[in-house]
Amino acid sequence: MAPAPIFPVKVGHIDDVQELRKAKPTTIPERFVRDLTERPTIATALSSATDIPIINFSKLIEGNPDEFHSEILNLTTACEQWGFFQVINHKIDLSLLESIEKVAKDFFMLPLEEKQKYPMAPGTVQGYGQAFVFSENQKLDWCNMFALGVEPHCIRNPKLWPAEPAEFSQTLENYSSKVRKLCENLLKYIAMSLGLKCDVFEKMFGVAVQAVRMNYYPPCSRPDLVLGLSPHSDGSALTVLQQGKGSSVGLQILKNNTWVPVQPIANALVVNIGDTMEVLTNGRYKSVEHRAVTHREKDRLSIATFYAPDYETELGPMPELLDENNPCKYRRYNHGEYSKHYVTNKLQGKKTLDFAKIEIDYST
Ligand code: OGA
Ligand code: NI
Repeated sequence: MAPAPIFPVKVGHIDDVQELRKAKPTTIPERFVRDLTERPTIATALSSATDIPIINFSKLIEGNPDEFHSEILNLTTACEQWGFFQVINHKIDLSLLESIEKVAKDFFMLPLEEKQKYPMAPGTVQGYGQAFVFSENQKLDWCNMFALGVEPHCIRNPKLWPAEPAEFSQTLENYSSKVRKLCENLLKYIAMSLGLKCDVFEKMFGVAVQAVRMNYYPPCSRPDLVLGLSPHSDGSALTVLQQGKGSSVGLQILKNNTWVPVQPIANALVVNIGDTMEVLTNGRYKSVEHRAVTHREKDRLSIATFYAPDYETELGPMPELLDENNPCKYRRYNHGEYSKHYVTNKLQGKKTLDFAKIEIDYST
């Protein structure tokens, strides 16, 4: 999450989805109704054999050499072919997962006036509201968001850390430090899966930027007309997503032009490769487009942690991963610049990454 944009943004009236739902449970204002091509067609319910890969973290951290090796191979396949995987046995206490979920849910259940003490200003991405809205005619997501910068402390806006629920801030601190450790470890194993030195990303990233976004999707009387969250790829290096217990299936990823639903696994964390890793690996590991859909009766909560290099980091495909068969596909740029570009544009599939693409001329 980069600094706030300085240009003024006119976004028109943005309905708070929870309030809308309370006042008029069956009304879908025009601004939420998607154009035909964007509407969530029924996602293909694929058999379990094609569900997103599962990575058993304990095999990486404490497995015997055979287990370790086979899990690294699983990780390679997951990153190359899916860009998404679910991590089981991640070593984060279940009680902590429950606590963060509880404070997040309690926050969303507060009266609107209370939540509005922490407003997301138009064009910015921290606070309570809807992020990525930049114009009056842009379609809105069926979602309320609460987002905060966490690390390093200079990206925090202390005024946005809520007083209620009382345990919110401490719980977020504890949770974030555990998720940070998980990201550091995963990046170590991802480096190894690419045949690189295990500390290469840690060294490159400096003091990694970490932000959290809690997404609350109220039920929607017409889930066929709206989207919970517009299609996008994440600008991060890695994203860790916790899906609320008992939430409806909501996350979908685009694979072979089909939206594949991610079936929640109890206590697992969903991890995905962000744009930054796609660039660093010259496209070998993909940042896959994803979106969220809503449910007629059930609400859904998700907690996303974005982990990225510090803003000073210079990024570009790693020379070790380039050769005559893998010509460089992305230019070099400064990560702060990319973050700014990301948060000042609406979510639109993988378009944001055009920022870094180089056209390859195959004619020569
Ligand atoms: C996100 C995201 C998906 C979800 O916050 O970037 O993709 O299921 N969330 O809420
Ligand atoms: Ni995302």
